[in-house]
Amino acid sequence: MRTGDGPASSGARPPVTGPLISLRGVGKSFKDGQVQAISDISFDVEGGEFVSLVGPSGCGKTTLLRLIDGLIRADEGEVLVAGKEPRPGPDLAMVFQSARLMPWRSVVRNIEFALAVRGLRGRERHERAMALLGSVGLRDFANAYPHELSGGMQQRVGLARALAVEPKVLLMDEPFAALDAMTRETLRRELLLLWSRRRTAVVFVTHDIEEAIFLSQRVILLRPRPGRIDEIVEVRLPERRWELDARALPEFVRLREHLWDRIRNMVREGAELEELGTAFPDAVPPPDPPRS
Ligand SMILES: Nc1ncnc2c1ncn2[C@@H]1O[C@H](COP(=O)(O)OP(=O)(O)O)[C@@H](O)[C@H]1O
Ligand SMILES: [Mg+2]
Repeated sequence: MRTGDGPASSGARPPVTGPLISLRGVGKSFKDGQVQAISDISFDVEGGEFVSLVGPSGCGKTTLLRLIDGLIRADEGEVLVAGKEPRPGPDLAMVFQSARLMPWRSVVRNIEFALAVRGLRGRERHERAMALLGSVGLRDFANAYPHELSGGMQQRVGLARALAVEPKVLLMDEPFAALDAMTRETLRRELLLLWSRRRTAVVFVTHDIEEAIFLSQRVILLRPRPGRIDEIVEVRLPERRWELDARALPEFVRLREHLWDRIRNMVREGAELEELGTAFPDAVPPPDPPRS
């Protein structure tokens, strides 16, 4: 599915022919087929697009990111990135729940390490690293060590390091889930701002419905066991969402209610309530009264 006529942006990259990421009928199981993680998943991501994968834990979100990154191969169907089988490398950068920085290197040296992999040396490398730190608001902390930074600051360094390789696709696996609510909100806004400037395609995994709506142009809702697509929804919110209280807009409210409706249906159709409860802690629908 192509998303078609998005707003023309002067910062946009030249159009690629065909989608940047394409999944067709993708299935993957583990433990010699005993655990079917995902089944028959098909979607595209265009260059420059911000797409979220949302669903309860265990529905295969991380598996999907690893398939797109080329860390694992599909059992069924096809995964293509820029028309080719993906391989881990500089085209794709992954950001995890914790930043996984090298504790013995200062912040700027962590970034420089990523730039060295790209072949940058000396002064150019240092200046590039400082510019990247500037883009996540951490220029003043260049010489600090990771343990001297808060969790939110460490995640900013992780993001700067991921952007250092100038990836075509940024894959983010619940990157803000371990942070406090205020830091999370700040980082979401910063991520959106960075994305709107750079137009790196983002595939963002979360189990937070509001986070997905706030950030994305499209939300792909997954259902569990095995992970399948429940629905793909377009988010028609203004692009500069970091400047306003997007959650108060009617479109936001409508989408949130719609997605929660779908999740309540998942529960009714037999997904275990307890598990959905831990995956979506805030708004679990009440259980139906016992029948017998
Ligand atoms: N390496 C693995 N070995 C065995 N089972 C796995 C492995 N990776 C994932 N799974 C299983 O696949 C399903 C999907 O996992 P995952 O992709 O991690 O879900 P999510 O990220 O949505 O929580 C789960 O049932 C999980 O236990
Ligand atoms: Mg996961």
